[in-house]
Amino acid sequence: MKKYIYSLCLLGVIVYSCKTQTTTTTTPTVPATPSTPTANLTKEEMLKKGEDLFNLKCGRCHGLPSPSEFTVADWQPIMKRMAPKAKLNTDETNWVLAYVNTNAKK
Ligand code: HEC
Repeated sequence: MKKYIYSLCLLGVIVYSCKTQTTTTTTPTVPATPSTPTANLTKEEMLKKGEDLFNLKCGRCHGLPSPSEFTVADWQPIMKRMAPKAKLNTDETNWVLAYVNTNAKK
């Protein structure tokens, strides 16, 4: 059942990212190196992944914090503490950090 919900979410993400893609010249005819699927994400894709992970993982133990509650300087040590708690790998931590930094308090 959980798997099913997860698949739905994933599908939603895919549909969403397709929808938001502007019809520019970026038509990926050749799939880029399938062995490293996360290595060549665009900035938008990384931010979206970061946002999804943040929403999914960071509201479990406490209320979901708002990225704009903290500055970029605040988020650095917070993410260092919270990434292991949320069991994020290095890539995922960077994506979440990119997301919160983009929306951080100015
Ligand atoms: C396993 C439980 C757990 C998870 C998962 C978790 N946190 Fe926390 N978080 C805590 C606890 C406990 C505290 C309070 C103690 C502390 O600050 O270390 C806290 C505190 C915080 C604070 C307040 C820090 C401050 O200095 O005021 C923020 C912001 C935060 N978490 C963000 C996050 C983010 C972002 C994620 C996802 C990457 C996350 N948390 C995932 C347990 C968790």
